[in-house]
Amino acid sequence: MLQQINQTAEYLRSRVTMPMPKDAIILGTGLGALVDHIENPQFIPYTEIPNFPVSTVEGHSGNLIFGTLASRPVIAMQGRFHYYEGYDMKQVTFPVRVFKALGIERLYVSNASGGMNKEFEVGDVMIITDHINLFPENPLRGKNYNELGPRFPAMTRAYSPRMIELADKIAQAEGIRLMHGVYVGVTGPTFETPAEYEAFRIMGGDAVGMSTVPEVIVANHASMEVFGISVITDLGGKDITQVPTHEEVQQAAVIAQPKMLKIVQGLLRQI
Ligand code: HPA
Repeated sequence: MLQQINQTAEYLRSRVTMPMPKDAIILGTGLGALVDHIENPQFIPYTEIPNFPVSTVEGHSGNLIFGTLASRPVIAMQGRFHYYEGYDMKQVTFPVRVFKALGIERLYVSNASGGMNKEFEVGDVMIITDHINLFPENPLRGKNYNELGPRFPAMTRAYSPRMIELADKIAQAEGIRLMHGVYVGVTGPTFETPAEYEAFRIMGGDAVGMSTVPEVIVANHASMEVFGISVITDLGGKDITQVPTHEEVQQAAVIAQPKMLKIVQGLLRQI
């Protein structure tokens, strides 16, 4: 694994012409248009990157993009690897390992999720303050490489308190309604049954989705600072007669995108 990480990092270093960024962004469902705001983008398709899995899901293009956002060098992942696609946890989190090897210090993760908190509306943006891992497997299971991080990493501050605080200030200044909440990570690809949405809500979850938790665990293992943001695309907890569809999820994510962009740009400027 170490060899693969280093080989991939070396390949990217040899291809990228700009100074290596300290910030990386994982773009979730429907949020890919953030890419249009990246200046001087250099696209590297996943298919050209050694050891990278290839993204298959509809709505994801599968590129690593190097460029500047809010005048800061960034790496953006256009399309992530979901566990439900059949990748194992090591593949799902491999890009985060490579980011660390490239010197990334902060990871921004975005996703679409179903809201369980009864205050939420479709199109709301939620800062992830904590998560509940309901994946059947932890990405750190197996041999621990001490070079990468500790055997038993704490997850007490999995989402950077100082970045959350800063995002709140930015949202306030921009007049953005910004929710806080706990993200429940599940495998999918099924959306939840009404009983599952209700169970997750009672458990302490505010939103549920099929990604993010594995990448956040690995980023924390590698002592990166993490900022997580979620677009509420359906309300499983509120209206059980409403059946979520992939199209609906993408539409809601597109509507919420400008809000998310402002927050991420603000963070990049001020962090
Ligand atoms: N459940 C799980 N994942 C999701 C949902 C949902 O309701 N909405 C968007 N991604």
